[in-house]
Amino acid sequence: MAKLILGKDVSAEIYAELRTRIDALKSKGTVPGLAVVLVGDDPASQVYVRKKGEMCEELGMKSVIVCMPADTTQEQLMAKVDELNNDPTIHGFLVQLPLPSHLDEEAVINAIDPKKDVDCFHPSNVGRVLIGDPDFLPATPAGVQQMLIRSGTETSGKHVVVVGRSNIVGKPMAAMMVQKGVGADSTVTVVHSRTKDLPSITRQADILIVAIGKPRFIKADMVKEGAVVIDVGTNRVEDPTHPKGSRLVGDVDFEEVEKVASAITPVPGGVGPMTICMLMANAVKAAEKASGGKI
Ligand code: GUN
Repeated sequence: MAKLILGKDVSAEIYAELRTRIDALKSKGTVPGLAVVLVGDDPASQVYVRKKGEMCEELGMKSVIVCMPADTTQEQLMAKVDELNNDPTIHGFLVQLPLPSHLDEEAVINAIDPKKDVDCFHPSNVGRVLIGDPDFLPATPAGVQQMLIRSGTETSGKHVVVVGRSNIVGKPMAAMMVQKGVGADSTVTVVHSRTKDLPSITRQADILIVAIGKPRFIKADMVKEGAVVIDVGTNRVEDPTHPKGSRLVGDVDFEEVEKVASAITPVPGGVGPMTICMLMANAVKAAEKASGGKI
């Protein structure tokens, strides 16, 4: 049976390190501040935003949650971004996506000061990840990389196959794993919905990172014996045996694949907790940079 790599355990280690860094900032008079802007009343977004605020407070950081109505205009939202760009007590902020359809997400992301862009969505930060000189790393891929490093998974010279090519996971994940350095130095292949004979490629992976958004897409016969399998997917599927009538599953068929993998992340409990953790790490890094301290 495969070893489980749990986001709860890996994030606990990182939170302990962040607390030390936050204490050091506070002793120099800087309270790291993170703001989250929520436009409209999408229930899933409300939950995510609340969790981000709660984690800030648990770590002793300043948390600001800005709730704007669903009929907010582009000008009003841009004015809020401008205000946060210029607020010295806010070291990092993000605008929760998706935005209501009348708003231009790209224009909003482009307006965020790259130094405060803790999501790492601004094109200049995305470019810096690609050239290997990042200020911030995007939270979910950074969380995956930390899980590999802290589980003792060798990445140097290994074949990493990334399944999925989204801007927030697949593409930055591939860019990060191909860099020089710890938790990287891999040979990287990206496969996606248009790839021919995808299983013949996933079977070559020493490390398989799956973010394709299809429930239980990866089956045992698509995985090499002994591979490390990281499942970024979270899909809600109907399950009448469950009290809610549904449950969360990943993009990997866990029950099958755990029999062939050497290590695997479950869903829930795998990558999930890492995303907020790495967002907090980016906020602390932004505060350190703003206070002229260590990077
Ligand atoms: N919506 C879902 N995930 C994210 C995220 O990581 N950042 C932002 N801004 N919105 C999201």
